[in-house]
Amino acid sequence: MSHKPVEYTEYLQLDKILQAQDLESDKQDAHAHDEMLFIIIHQAYELWFKQIHFEVDSALKVMGKPEVNDNSPELQTVVHRLGRVVTILKVLVHQIDILETMTPLDFYDFRDFLRPASGFQSWQFKMLEAKLGLKFDNRYGKEYYTSMLKPQYVDYVKQVENQPSLLEMLDAWLARMPFFEDASMWTDFKATNAEGPHHPFWNAYLNTYTDTLVEGEKHNRAVFEAIFLGTEKSDHTTLSTAAMRNALFISLYRGYPLLQLPFQMMQHLLDIDEQMATWRFRHINMVHRMIGSRVGTGGSSGKEYLQGALNKHYIFKDFALLSSFLMQRNHLPKLSTALHNKLGFV
Ligand code: HEM
Repeated sequence: MSHKPVEYTEYLQLDKILQAQDLESDKQDAHAHDEMLFIIIHQAYELWFKQIHFEVDSALKVMGKPEVNDNSPELQTVVHRLGRVVTILKVLVHQIDILETMTPLDFYDFRDFLRPASGFQSWQFKMLEAKLGLKFDNRYGKEYYTSMLKPQYVDYVKQVENQPSLLEMLDAWLARMPFFEDASMWTDFKATNAEGPHHPFWNAYLNTYTDTLVEGEKHNRAVFEAIFLGTEKSDHTTLSTAAMRNALFISLYRGYPLLQLPFQMMQHLLDIDEQMATWRFRHINMVHRMIGSRVGTGGSSGKEYLQGALNKHYIFKDFALLSSFLMQRNHLPKLSTALHNKLGFV
C-alpha cells in the first residue's frame, strides 16, 4: 500500500493553529503583552473541550443502545474514556494557575478591547453540560444563559438539550439491571431481620441500616423508603427509583467482579462533577482577583452568576447522595447463592 509521507506541520495543521492568535490590543495600536497568554489559554481550553466532547459522544453511542452488556468490552471502553475525561478536567483545573500569572493590571491593559466577548459564549462548554445531563430547567440564570450566543450556537445547545443525555441513558441502564426482578436469584436468601413490606433483601438492609442511625438521622428511614423503595420516583433525586436502588446495590457489593465496571462508571461520573465544580470554584476566585466586583464582559453579574452556577450545576449528585444510605460492610446481608455465583462468575 502506497502511503504519502506525512509531515509534522501539515499533519497537525500548525499553519492554521499558530496563526490563530490575533491580539486585539495590536489592532488598537496598544500592544498588551499578556493578551497572547489570554488567547492561547482559551484556545487550549476549547481544544480540550472538543476532546471531551469526542469522548462523551463515544460513551453516549454505547450507552444509548437498548441493551448494554454490563461486562462487555464496550462498557470497559466507556469506563476507560470517562476516566480520560476526568484526567483532562484535572488538567483544565490546573491551567488556571498559568492564567493567574497575569495580574489584574496586565488584564486591564486589554480587557476593554474584548467586550462583549466572554467565556459565557463558550457553546462547547454549555453543550457539554447539556450532554452530560444538565436540563434547561435546572440551569442557574436560564433566562439569559444563551443570551450572548449567536443563533447558530443557541441551536447547537438546544439540539443537545433535546437529545437523551448521559444521565438519562445511565438512568435507563441502571434501572434495567435485573438484580431484583428474577425471584429464582433469591430463593435461598436468609436474613434474621427480613420482615417488612419490601423485597426480603431490602427489608433486611433497611432494618439493619435503621439500627445504625443516630439521633438526628432517624428520618433517614423514611427518606430511604421514598428514594429506593417507592412506587414512584421521589423528589429527592433525578434518577428513577429502580436506578437508585441498583446504584446503591452496586455501591454495596462492588467487590463482585460483575459490579466493578458499573461501580467505576459511577465513580468517574462523580469525579466529573467534582472536577467541573472545582474548575468553577477556581474560575470564580480567579475572576474575583482579576475584576473584583465589576460585571463580566459577557454582561452577567460576574461572580454572583458564576457562584449560582457552581451551586446548581452538579449533574451526578444522586451518586453522592448514596453515601447517606451506606453502612458498615460487615453488617451487609449475605447474598443468595445464585446471585453470589452470578456476580462472581462462579
Ligand atoms: C481573566 C480571566 C477571566 C475572567 C476575568 C473571566 C470572567 C468571567 C465572567 C465574569 C464570567 C460570567 C459571564 C460574563 O458576564 O462574562 C465568565 C464566564 C465563563 N468563563 Fe470566564 N473568565 C476568565 C477566564 C476564563 C477562561 C480561561 C475560561 C476557559 C474556557 C473561561 C470560561 C468561562 C466559561 C465557560 C464561562 C461560563 C460559565 C457558566 O456559564 O457557568 N473563563 N468568565
